[in-house]
Amino acid sequence: DSVLVHSPATLSNLGCGFDVLGLALAAPYDTIRLRRTATPGVCIRHLDGYNLPTDPTRNVAGVALLALLREVPEEIGFEVEITKGIMPGSGVGSSSASAAGAVVGANALLGNRFTKMELIDFAMAGEAVASGARHADNIAPAIFGGFTVVRALEPAIDIVALPAPPMWVAVVHPQIEVKTSESRKVLPAAVPLGLAVRQWANVAGLVSGFLTADYELIGRSLDDYIVEPARQALIPGLAEARKRALAAGAIGGGISGSGPSIFMLNKTEAIAQAVGEALGSVFAELGIEFKTYVGPV
Ligand code: HSE
Repeated sequence: DSVLVHSPATLSNLGCGFDVLGLALAAPYDTIRLRRTATPGVCIRHLDGYNLPTDPTRNVAGVALLALLREVPEEIGFEVEITKGIMPGSGVGSSSASAAGAVVGANALLGNRFTKMELIDFAMAGEAVASGARHADNIAPAIFGGFTVVRALEPAIDIVALPAPPMWVAVVHPQIEVKTSESRKVLPAAVPLGLAVRQWANVAGLVSGFLTADYELIGRSLDDYIVEPARQALIPGLAEARKRALAAGAIGGGISGSGPSIFMLNKTEAIAQAVGEALGSVFAELGIEFKTYVGPV
C-alpha cells in the first residue's frame, strides 16, 4: 500500500493579498512516497541533500501527518520518503509543499476519508513548525491547485478555489536567508485606515482580474501598501528588480511569500524568459548568487 505524490511550489500573498491569496505553479515540486504501516507513528527519510530534520515532531510533513493520525482511530503509521524539488527557504512554499503533499498522500491511503478543508488544517500544523504562524496561503493552492483565496480560518476553514488565466511566472531566488518567522516580526501591528482601503481595493481588483483574465487589471492591482514596505529592507535589489521586470514586459509582481524570492507574472513564455533574465541581472550586479525559475502557472 503506497502512493507517490508530486506537491507543487506555490506563490503566496501575490502582492496585496497577504496571508490570503495563493497560486500553484506547475513546477518545481516535491516528490513524496508514503507507505502505510502497522507500526503507529511516522518515520521520515529525506532522499535529498538538504539535511532537514527527520524527527517527525520537527519535520513539517511529520507534524502534519501526526495531526492527521490523531483523527484516525486505527493503529497505523506512515513511512515517508521525501525528495525536495523545491529548495527550502526559497519563498515559493517549500515547507507547505511537503506538509500538503504528505497529508494528501496519507488521505489517499485511507480511502480519502478527509475533506480538503480538513487536510488544510492538518498541513497548517506542519507549516507552523517552519513559520511560527497559522496561515494557509501556500497550503491551499498546493492542495486545490490554481488560484485560491483563504477567506477565513476561523471559525471554520473556508477556501475559495478559482481558475487562473494562462500565465507564465518568473521567479528569482537570491541566495540570502530570510526566515518567514523573522520577516513576520517586522510587520506593523496596526494599519492606517487609508492604507487599508487602498489595499483591499487592490485585492478586489486582483481577484476580478484573475476571474476575467484581464492582465492589465491584474497589473494595476498587485501593489502591496502594507507588507512589502515593511519587508523591502530584507531584500536588496527589490525596487530595481521590479523596474527591470516591468521594462521587460512583466504584468507585475512583488515579494514571493515572505521572501527572499521575487515573482513576476507574465503573459507569455518569451516574456517570462526575458523577465527572468532581467531579475537575475540585478543580483548579478549586486554580487549576490541567485537562481531563476521560469514556468507556467
Ligand atoms: N503569507 C505568508 C507571509 C507566506 O507572507 O508571511 C509565507 O509563508
